[in-house]
Amino acid sequence: MQMFEIVGGNRLKGAINISGAKNAALPIMAASILVEGETILRNVPDLADVQQMIALLNKLGVKTHRDQDGALHLKVEDEMNAHAEYELVSKMRASVCVLGPLLAKRRRAQVSMPGGCAIGDRPIDLHVLGLQTLGADFELVGGDMLLKAKKLKGADVFLGGPFGSSVTATANVLMAATLAQGKTIISAAACEPEIVDLADFLIACGAQITGQGTPEITIEGVDTLQGCEHNVIADRIEAGTFMIAGAITNGDLELRGARIDHLRAFVDRLRRVGVNIEQGEKGISVSSARRLEPVVITTQPYPGFPTDLQAQAMTLLCLADGNSVITEKIFPDRFLHVAELSRMGAQLRKEGPVVVIQGVKKLIGAQVMASDLRASAALILAGLIAKGTTRVHRAYHIDRGYEKIEEKLSAVGANIRRLNEG
Ligand code: UD1
Repeated sequence: MQMFEIVGGNRLKGAINISGAKNAALPIMAASILVEGETILRNVPDLADVQQMIALLNKLGVKTHRDQDGALHLKVEDEMNAHAEYELVSKMRASVCVLGPLLAKRRRAQVSMPGGCAIGDRPIDLHVLGLQTLGADFELVGGDMLLKAKKLKGADVFLGGPFGSSVTATANVLMAATLAQGKTIISAAACEPEIVDLADFLIACGAQITGQGTPEITIEGVDTLQGCEHNVIADRIEAGTFMIAGAITNGDLELRGARIDHLRAFVDRLRRVGVNIEQGEKGISVSSARRLEPVVITTQPYPGFPTDLQAQAMTLLCLADGNSVITEKIFPDRFLHVAELSRMGAQLRKEGPVVVIQGVKKLIGAQVMASDLRASAALILAGLIAKGTTRVHRAYHIDRGYEKIEEKLSAVGANIRRLNEG
Protein backbone atom coordinates (compact mmCIF):
# COMPACT_ATOMS: atom_id res chain seq x y z
CA MET A 1 0.00 0.00 0.00
CA GLN A 2 1.03 3.57 -0.57
CA MET A 3 0.61 6.87 1.26
CA PHE A 4 1.23 10.55 0.67
CA GLU A 5 3.66 12.55 2.76
CA ILE A 6 3.13 16.29 2.75
CA VAL A 7 5.18 18.99 4.43
CA GLY A 8 2.81 21.90 4.84
CA GLY A 9 3.25 25.62 4.44
CA ASN A 10 4.23 26.16 0.80
CA ARG A 11 2.35 28.77 -1.20
CA LEU A 12 1.10 27.24 -4.48
CA LYS A 13 1.71 29.21 -7.65
CA GLY A 14 1.43 28.26 -11.32
CA ALA A 15 -0.82 26.39 -13.75
CA ILE A 16 -2.45 22.96 -13.44
CA ASN A 17 -4.09 21.11 -16.34
CA ILE A 18 -7.47 19.78 -15.26
CA SER A 19 -8.11 16.19 -16.39
CA GLY A 20 -11.25 14.83 -18.03
CA ALA A 21 -14.20 14.26 -15.71
CA LYS A 22 -14.29 10.80 -14.14
CA ASN A 23 -18.04 10.98 -13.62
CA ALA A 24 -18.63 11.87 -17.26
CA ALA A 25 -16.13 9.35 -18.65
CA LEU A 26 -17.51 6.32 -16.73
CA PRO A 27 -21.14 6.43 -18.02
CA ILE A 28 -19.98 7.38 -21.52
CA MET A 29 -17.66 4.37 -21.55
CA ALA A 30 -20.62 2.21 -20.45
CA ALA A 31 -22.68 3.74 -23.28
CA SER A 32 -20.26 2.18 -25.79
CA ILE A 33 -22.25 -1.04 -25.18
CA LEU A 34 -25.17 0.61 -27.04
CA VAL A 35 -23.38 1.53 -30.25
CA GLU A 36 -22.38 -0.16 -33.50
CA GLY A 37 -18.76 0.37 -34.58
CA GLU A 38 -16.03 2.13 -32.69
CA THR A 39 -16.28 4.75 -29.97
CA ILE A 40 -13.26 7.02 -29.56
CA LEU A 41 -13.06 9.04 -26.35
CA ARG A 42 -10.53 11.80 -25.79
CA ASN A 43 -9.67 13.30 -22.42
CA VAL A 44 -10.49 10.12 -20.45
CA PRO A 45 -8.45 10.42 -17.22
CA ASP A 46 -6.04 7.64 -16.29
CA LEU A 47 -7.57 6.64 -12.97
CA ALA A 48 -8.16 3.47 -10.98
CA ASP A 49 -11.94 3.82 -11.54
CA VAL A 50 -11.44 4.09 -15.30
CA GLN A 51 -9.29 0.92 -15.19
CA GLN A 52 -12.11 -0.78 -13.29
CA MET A 53 -14.64 0.21 -15.94
CA ILE A 54 -12.30 -1.00 -18.69
CA ALA A 55 -11.95 -4.36 -16.90
CA LEU A 56 -15.74 -4.65 -16.60
CA LEU A 57 -16.36 -3.70 -20.24
CA ASN A 58 -13.72 -6.21 -21.39
CA LYS A 59 -15.62 -8.94 -19.51
CA LEU A 60 -18.77 -7.78 -21.26
CA GLY A 61 -17.21 -8.24 -24.69
CA VAL A 62 -16.04 -4.67 -25.35
CA LYS A 63 -12.49 -4.50 -26.73
CA THR A 64 -10.57 -1.43 -25.56
CA HIS A 65 -7.20 0.21 -26.19
CA ARG A 66 -5.51 3.57 -25.70
CA ASP A 67 -3.84 4.96 -28.84
CA GLN A 68 -0.57 6.91 -28.94
CA ASP A 69 -2.38 10.19 -28.32
CA GLY A 70 -4.09 8.78 -25.23
CA ALA A 71 -7.55 8.46 -26.82
CA LEU A 72 -9.56 5.48 -25.56
CA HIS A 73 -11.04 3.23 -28.27
CA LEU A 74 -13.97 0.95 -27.41
CA LYS A 75 -15.70 -1.54 -29.69
CA VAL A 76 -18.23 -4.25 -28.92
CA GLU A 77 -16.97 -7.58 -30.25
CA ASP A 78 -19.13 -10.07 -28.38
CA GLU A 79 -22.64 -9.48 -27.03
CA MET A 80 -23.13 -12.86 -25.33
CA ASN A 81 -22.29 -11.86 -21.76
CA ALA A 82 -24.66 -9.50 -19.93
CA HIS A 83 -23.53 -10.31 -16.39
CA ALA A 84 -21.57 -7.75 -14.35
CA GLU A 85 -20.31 -9.84 -11.45
CA TYR A 86 -19.87 -8.97 -7.80
CA GLU A 87 -16.04 -9.05 -7.92
CA LEU A 88 -15.96 -6.07 -10.28
CA VAL A 89 -19.12 -4.19 -9.27
CA SER A 90 -18.30 -4.23 -5.55
CA LYS A 91 -15.04 -2.37 -6.23
CA MET A 92 -16.73 0.53 -7.98
CA ARG A 93 -20.29 1.72 -7.63
CA ALA A 94 -20.34 3.42 -11.04
CA SER A 95 -20.29 -0.11 -12.55
CA VAL A 96 -24.07 0.14 -12.23
CA CYS A 97 -23.95 2.36 -15.35
CA VAL A 98 -23.83 -0.79 -17.53
CA LEU A 99 -27.36 -1.73 -16.40
CA GLY A 100 -29.29 0.49 -18.84
CA PRO A 101 -27.05 -0.14 -21.88
CA LEU A 102 -27.00 -3.95 -21.38
CA LEU A 103 -30.78 -4.08 -21.01
CA ALA A 104 -31.46 -1.87 -24.04
CA LYS A 105 -28.95 -3.55 -26.37
CA ARG A 106 -28.75 -7.16 -25.14
CA ARG A 107 -32.31 -7.35 -23.72
CA ARG A 108 -30.96 -8.68 -20.48
CA ALA A 109 -28.82 -7.20 -17.73
CA GLN A 110 -27.59 -9.03 -14.67
CA VAL A 111 -25.68 -6.65 -12.45
CA SER A 112 -24.59 -7.33 -8.90
CA MET A 113 -26.15 -4.98 -6.33
CA PRO A 114 -23.34 -2.55 -5.50
CA GLY A 115 -24.04 -2.53 -1.74
CA GLY A 116 -23.12 0.28 0.64
CA CYS A 117 -19.90 2.21 0.67
CA ALA A 118 -17.88 4.39 3.03
CA ILE A 119 -20.20 7.36 2.55
CA GLY A 120 -23.33 5.45 3.55
CA ASP A 121 -25.86 2.99 2.16
CA ARG A 122 -26.52 3.85 -1.42
CA PRO A 123 -29.87 2.62 -2.69
CA ILE A 124 -30.49 1.56 -6.27
CA ASP A 125 -34.30 1.67 -6.33
CA LEU A 126 -34.58 4.61 -8.75
CA HIS A 127 -32.46 2.82 -11.37
CA VAL A 128 -34.68 -0.25 -11.20
CA LEU A 129 -37.94 1.72 -11.06
CA GLY A 130 -36.93 3.80 -14.10
CA LEU A 131 -36.06 0.74 -16.17
CA GLN A 132 -39.21 -1.09 -15.05
CA THR A 133 -41.23 1.91 -16.25
CA LEU A 134 -39.64 1.36 -19.67
CA GLY A 135 -41.06 -2.18 -19.58
CA ALA A 136 -38.31 -4.29 -18.01
CA ASP A 137 -39.07 -7.26 -15.75
CA PHE A 138 -37.04 -7.25 -12.57
CA GLU A 139 -36.02 -9.95 -10.13
CA LEU A 140 -33.33 -10.28 -7.51
CA VAL A 141 -31.15 -13.36 -8.04
CA GLY A 142 -28.44 -14.18 -5.52
CA GLY A 143 -27.63 -10.53 -4.82
CA ASP A 144 -27.81 -9.62 -8.52
CA MET A 145 -30.38 -7.38 -10.19
CA LEU A 146 -31.74 -9.27 -13.19
CA LEU A 147 -33.63 -7.14 -15.71
CA LYS A 148 -35.12 -8.46 -18.93
CA ALA A 149 -37.14 -6.90 -21.75
CA LYS A 150 -37.75 -8.07 -25.33
CA LYS A 151 -38.16 -4.43 -26.37
CA LEU A 152 -38.17 -1.39 -24.13
CA LYS A 153 -41.05 1.05 -24.64
CA GLY A 154 -40.83 4.81 -24.18
CA ALA A 155 -42.70 6.11 -21.10
CA ASP A 156 -42.97 8.96 -18.61
CA VAL A 157 -40.33 8.25 -15.97
CA PHE A 158 -40.19 10.15 -12.68
CA LEU A 159 -36.74 9.90 -11.07
CA GLY A 160 -37.12 12.05 -7.95
CA GLY A 161 -36.04 10.37 -4.72
CA PRO A 162 -35.98 11.37 -1.05
CA PHE A 163 -32.69 13.23 -1.61
CA GLY A 164 -33.57 14.76 -4.98
CA SER A 165 -32.55 13.46 -8.39
CA SER A 166 -30.09 10.64 -8.95
CA VAL A 167 -27.19 11.15 -11.34
CA THR A 168 -26.44 7.58 -12.37
CA ALA A 169 -30.14 6.57 -12.37
CA THR A 170 -30.72 9.41 -14.87
CA ALA A 171 -27.75 8.13 -16.89
CA ASN A 172 -29.14 4.58 -16.92
CA VAL A 173 -32.66 5.53 -17.98
CA LEU A 174 -31.35 8.03 -20.54
CA MET A 175 -29.07 5.42 -22.11
CA ALA A 176 -31.78 2.74 -22.15
CA ALA A 177 -34.40 5.10 -23.63
CA THR A 178 -32.21 5.93 -26.65
CA LEU A 179 -33.00 2.49 -28.10
CA ALA A 180 -36.57 2.15 -26.72
CA GLN A 181 -39.62 2.23 -28.94
CA GLY A 182 -41.19 5.72 -28.91
CA LYS A 183 -40.89 8.71 -26.65
CA THR A 184 -39.54 8.80 -23.09
CA ILE A 185 -39.82 11.81 -20.83
CA ILE A 186 -37.61 11.73 -17.75
CA SER A 187 -38.80 14.19 -15.12
CA ALA A 188 -36.86 15.09 -11.97
CA ALA A 189 -33.82 14.23 -14.10
CA ALA A 190 -30.36 15.07 -12.78
CA CYS A 191 -29.04 18.30 -14.35
CA GLU A 192 -25.33 17.68 -13.72
CA PRO A 193 -22.87 18.67 -16.49
CA GLU A 194 -21.82 15.00 -16.66
CA ILE A 195 -25.37 14.08 -17.73
CA VAL A 196 -25.22 16.79 -20.42
CA ASP A 197 -21.90 15.35 -21.61
CA LEU A 198 -23.40 11.85 -21.77
CA ALA A 199 -26.40 13.18 -23.73
CA ASP A 200 -24.08 15.07 -26.10
CA PHE A 201 -22.14 11.87 -26.72
CA LEU A 202 -25.34 9.89 -27.38
CA ILE A 203 -26.63 12.61 -29.73
CA ALA A 204 -23.34 12.45 -31.67
CA CYS A 205 -23.99 8.69 -31.99
CA GLY A 206 -27.45 9.39 -33.50
CA ALA A 207 -29.72 9.51 -30.44
CA GLN A 208 -32.59 11.99 -30.34
CA ILE A 209 -32.45 13.81 -27.02
CA THR A 210 -33.59 17.26 -25.91
CA GLY A 211 -33.71 18.97 -22.53
CA GLN A 212 -30.40 17.62 -21.12
CA GLY A 213 -29.22 19.92 -18.35
CA THR A 214 -32.84 20.58 -17.26
CA PRO A 215 -35.05 18.45 -14.96
CA GLU A 216 -37.04 17.20 -17.99
CA ILE A 217 -35.22 15.21 -20.65
CA THR A 218 -37.08 13.95 -23.73
CA ILE A 219 -35.79 11.02 -25.73
CA GLU A 220 -37.22 9.72 -29.04
CA GLY A 221 -36.03 6.13 -29.41
CA VAL A 222 -34.02 5.20 -32.53
CA ASP A 223 -33.21 1.78 -34.00
CA THR A 224 -29.43 1.96 -33.81
CA LEU A 225 -26.61 4.17 -32.61
CA GLN A 226 -23.33 4.55 -34.45
CA GLY A 227 -19.96 4.97 -32.68
CA CYS A 228 -18.40 8.44 -32.78
CA GLU A 229 -15.53 10.53 -31.41
CA HIS A 230 -16.11 12.56 -28.28
CA ASN A 231 -14.13 14.85 -25.97
CA VAL A 232 -14.95 14.33 -22.29
CA ILE A 233 -15.53 17.58 -20.33
CA ALA A 234 -13.05 18.79 -17.71
CA ASP A 235 -13.45 17.46 -14.17
CA ARG A 236 -15.21 20.15 -12.12
CA ILE A 237 -14.53 18.31 -8.86
CA GLU A 238 -10.79 18.08 -9.52
CA ALA A 239 -10.88 21.78 -10.47
CA GLY A 240 -12.77 22.66 -7.27
CA THR A 241 -10.28 20.69 -5.17
CA PHE A 242 -7.34 22.60 -6.66
CA MET A 243 -9.23 25.88 -6.24
CA ILE A 244 -9.27 25.16 -2.53
CA ALA A 245 -5.57 24.23 -2.65
CA GLY A 246 -4.91 27.69 -4.11
CA ALA A 247 -7.16 29.45 -1.61
CA ILE A 248 -5.90 27.63 1.47
CA THR A 249 -2.22 28.32 0.73
CA ASN A 250 -2.82 31.99 -0.14
CA GLY A 251 -1.66 30.91 -3.56
CA ASP A 252 -2.17 31.93 -7.15
CA LEU A 253 -3.25 29.13 -9.47
CA GLU A 254 -4.54 28.83 -13.01
CA LEU A 255 -6.69 25.74 -13.54
CA ARG A 256 -6.52 25.09 -17.25
CA GLY A 257 -9.66 23.75 -18.88
CA ALA A 258 -11.87 24.40 -15.81
CA ARG A 259 -15.22 26.17 -16.27
CA ILE A 260 -16.91 28.45 -13.76
CA ASP A 261 -20.31 27.71 -15.32
CA HIS A 262 -19.98 24.12 -14.04
CA LEU A 263 -19.19 25.31 -10.50
CA ARG A 264 -21.47 28.30 -9.86
CA ALA A 265 -22.65 27.44 -6.34
CA PHE A 266 -19.14 26.44 -5.28
CA VAL A 267 -17.62 29.62 -6.74
CA ASP A 268 -20.29 31.72 -5.03
CA ARG A 269 -19.39 30.23 -1.62
CA LEU A 270 -15.65 30.61 -2.20
CA ARG A 271 -16.04 34.24 -3.20
CA ARG A 272 -17.96 34.84 0.03
CA VAL A 273 -15.07 33.24 1.89
CA GLY A 274 -12.87 35.89 0.27
CA VAL A 275 -11.22 33.96 -2.54
CA ASN A 276 -10.62 35.74 -5.89
CA ILE A 277 -11.88 33.65 -8.78
CA GLU A 278 -11.92 34.65 -12.45
CA GLN A 279 -12.72 32.82 -15.66
CA GLY A 280 -9.90 33.36 -18.16
CA GLU A 281 -9.55 32.09 -21.71
CA LYS A 282 -7.52 29.06 -20.65
CA GLY A 283 -9.36 28.26 -17.44
CA ILE A 284 -10.13 29.49 -13.94
CA SER A 285 -7.64 31.63 -12.01
CA VAL A 286 -7.74 31.52 -8.21
CA SER A 287 -5.90 33.66 -5.72
CA SER A 288 -6.25 34.53 -2.09
CA ALA A 289 -4.20 36.85 0.03
CA ARG A 290 -6.55 37.77 2.81
CA ARG A 291 -8.28 36.30 5.78
CA LEU A 292 -10.97 33.69 5.14
CA GLU A 293 -14.55 34.52 6.14
CA PRO A 294 -16.83 31.79 7.54
CA VAL A 295 -19.85 30.67 5.43
CA VAL A 296 -22.88 28.40 5.52
CA ILE A 297 -22.90 25.57 2.97
CA THR A 298 -25.66 23.09 2.12
CA THR A 299 -24.98 20.37 -0.44
CA GLN A 300 -27.67 19.91 -3.07
CA PRO A 301 -28.15 18.36 -6.49
CA TYR A 302 -26.74 20.44 -9.36
CA PRO A 303 -26.75 23.44 -9.72
CA GLY A 304 -26.45 23.47 -5.92
CA PHE A 305 -23.23 22.99 -3.96
CA PRO A 306 -21.77 19.57 -4.92
CA THR A 307 -21.50 16.90 -2.24
CA ASP A 308 -18.27 15.83 -3.95
CA LEU A 309 -16.66 19.10 -2.76
CA GLN A 310 -18.10 19.11 0.76
CA ALA A 311 -15.12 17.48 2.50
CA GLN A 312 -12.60 19.72 0.74
CA ALA A 313 -14.64 22.85 1.60
CA MET A 314 -14.61 21.76 5.25
CA THR A 315 -10.80 21.82 5.26
CA LEU A 316 -10.87 25.40 3.96
CA LEU A 317 -13.44 26.49 6.55
CA CYS A 318 -11.31 25.00 9.34
CA LEU A 319 -9.06 28.03 8.80
CA ALA A 320 -11.78 30.68 8.47
CA ASP A 321 -12.08 33.49 10.95
CA GLY A 322 -15.25 32.38 12.77
CA ASN A 323 -17.88 29.65 12.77
CA SER A 324 -19.14 27.96 9.58
CA VAL A 325 -21.90 25.39 9.13
CA ILE A 326 -22.01 22.58 6.57
CA THR A 327 -25.22 20.59 6.02
CA GLU A 328 -24.99 17.43 3.90
CA LYS A 329 -28.28 16.86 2.10
CA ILE A 330 -27.22 14.22 -0.43
CA PHE A 331 -25.30 11.68 1.65
CA PRO A 332 -26.07 12.48 5.33
CA ASP A 333 -23.32 10.11 6.57
CA ARG A 334 -20.57 11.53 4.38
CA PHE A 335 -18.44 12.84 7.24
CA LEU A 336 -15.61 10.34 7.72
CA HIS A 337 -13.11 13.20 7.30
CA VAL A 338 -14.41 14.90 10.47
CA ALA A 339 -12.55 12.62 12.88
CA GLU A 340 -9.36 12.73 10.82
CA LEU A 341 -9.38 16.54 10.48
CA SER A 342 -9.91 16.73 14.24
CA ARG A 343 -6.64 14.79 14.66
CA MET A 344 -4.97 17.72 12.89
CA GLY A 345 -6.39 20.28 15.30
CA ALA A 346 -9.66 21.17 13.56
CA GLN A 347 -12.52 22.19 15.85
CA LEU A 348 -15.57 20.36 14.49
CA ARG A 349 -18.91 19.46 16.03
CA LYS A 350 -21.14 17.04 14.19
CA GLU A 351 -24.87 16.78 14.88
CA GLY A 352 -26.52 14.37 12.40
CA PRO A 353 -26.03 15.72 8.86
CA VAL A 354 -24.72 19.07 10.15
CA VAL A 355 -21.16 20.02 11.11
CA VAL A 356 -20.29 23.25 12.89
CA ILE A 357 -16.75 24.32 12.08
CA GLN A 358 -15.00 26.65 14.46
CA GLY A 359 -12.12 28.27 12.60
CA VAL A 360 -8.64 27.76 14.07
CA LYS A 361 -5.40 29.65 13.46
CA LYS A 362 -3.55 26.57 12.23
CA LEU A 363 -3.77 22.85 11.53
CA ILE A 364 -1.00 20.54 12.73
CA GLY A 365 0.53 17.72 10.68
CA ALA A 366 -0.46 14.18 11.72
CA GLN A 367 -0.87 10.62 10.50
CA VAL A 368 -4.36 10.36 9.02
CA MET A 369 -6.35 7.67 7.28
CA ALA A 370 -8.04 8.20 3.92
CA SER A 371 -11.52 6.65 4.02
CA ASP A 372 -13.11 7.56 0.69
CA LEU A 373 -12.15 9.49 -2.38
CA ARG A 374 -13.22 13.03 -1.49
CA ALA A 375 -12.41 12.72 2.22
CA SER A 376 -8.87 11.79 1.17
CA ALA A 377 -8.65 14.93 -0.95
CA ALA A 378 -9.73 16.96 2.09
CA LEU A 379 -6.87 15.45 4.12
CA ILE A 380 -4.30 16.20 1.43
CA LEU A 381 -5.53 19.82 1.35
CA ALA A 382 -5.19 19.96 5.14
CA GLY A 383 -1.64 18.62 4.81
CA LEU A 384 -0.73 21.41 2.38
CA ILE A 385 -1.34 24.06 5.03
CA ALA A 386 -0.66 22.15 8.27
CA LYS A 387 2.37 22.91 10.36
CA GLY A 388 4.87 20.05 9.97
CA THR A 389 4.45 16.72 8.23
CA THR A 390 1.19 14.95 7.39
CA ARG A 391 0.97 11.37 6.23
CA VAL A 392 -2.24 10.38 4.45
CA HIS A 393 -2.44 6.59 4.46
CA ARG A 394 -4.34 4.49 1.87
CA ALA A 395 -3.41 6.50 -1.21
CA TYR A 396 -5.54 4.17 -3.36
CA HIS A 397 -8.64 6.12 -2.42
CA ILE A 398 -7.18 9.23 -4.07
CA ASP A 399 -6.02 7.27 -7.12
CA ARG A 400 -9.65 6.37 -7.84
CA GLY A 401 -10.45 9.94 -8.81
CA TYR A 402 -7.38 12.20 -9.05
CA GLU A 403 -4.88 11.75 -11.87
CA LYS A 404 -1.27 12.08 -10.64
CA ILE A 405 -2.28 14.40 -7.82
CA GLU A 406 1.21 14.50 -6.28
CA GLU A 407 2.80 15.44 -9.62
CA LYS A 408 0.26 18.20 -10.27
CA LEU A 409 0.65 19.68 -6.78
CA SER A 410 4.47 19.40 -6.76
CA ALA A 411 4.65 21.25 -10.07
CA VAL A 412 3.02 24.32 -8.46
CA GLY A 413 5.23 24.26 -5.38
CA ALA A 414 3.74 21.76 -2.91
CA ASN A 415 6.02 19.51 -0.89
CA ILE A 416 4.21 16.19 -1.42
CA ARG A 417 5.48 12.75 -2.29
CA ARG A 418 4.11 9.24 -2.61
CA LEU A 419 5.71 6.61 -0.40
CA ASN A 420 5.29 2.89 0.05
CA GLU A 421 3.92 1.95 3.46
CA GLY A 422 6.86 0.61 5.48
C1 UD1 B 1 -23.04 10.37 -8.49
C2 UD1 B 1 -21.57 10.61 -8.58
C3 UD1 B 1 -20.99 10.84 -7.18
C4 UD1 B 1 -21.74 11.97 -6.48
C5 UD1 B 1 -23.24 11.73 -6.52
C6 UD1 B 1 -24.04 12.91 -5.99
C7 UD1 B 1 -20.96 9.29 -10.52
C8 UD1 B 1 -20.28 8.10 -11.06
N1 UD1 B 1 -20.96 9.43 -9.19
O1 UD1 B 1 -23.25 9.19 -7.72
O2 UD1 B 1 -19.61 11.18 -7.33
O3 UD1 B 1 -21.33 12.04 -5.13
O4 UD1 B 1 -23.67 11.50 -7.87
O5 UD1 B 1 -23.74 14.06 -6.71
O6 UD1 B 1 -21.47 10.11 -11.27
N2 UD1 B 1 -30.61 7.61 -4.32
C9 UD1 B 1 -31.78 6.93 -4.04
N3 UD1 B 1 -32.13 5.89 -4.86
C10 UD1 B 1 -31.39 5.53 -5.95
C11 UD1 B 1 -30.22 6.25 -6.23
C12 UD1 B 1 -29.85 7.28 -5.40
O7 UD1 B 1 -32.46 7.22 -3.08
O8 UD1 B 1 -31.76 4.60 -6.67
C13 UD1 B 1 -30.20 8.73 -3.44
C14 UD1 B 1 -28.77 8.56 -2.88
O9 UD1 B 1 -28.75 7.80 -1.70
C15 UD1 B 1 -28.37 10.00 -2.63
C16 UD1 B 1 -29.06 10.74 -3.77
O10 UD1 B 1 -30.10 9.88 -4.23
O11 UD1 B 1 -28.92 10.46 -1.42
C17 UD1 B 1 -28.16 11.11 -4.92
O12 UD1 B 1 -27.38 9.99 -5.30
P1 UD1 B 1 -26.98 9.73 -6.81
O13 UD1 B 1 -27.11 11.00 -7.60
O14 UD1 B 1 -27.69 8.53 -7.32
O15 UD1 B 1 -25.45 9.35 -6.70
P2 UD1 B 1 -24.67 8.46 -7.73
O16 UD1 B 1 -25.30 8.61 -9.07
O17 UD1 B 1 -24.45 7.11 -7.17
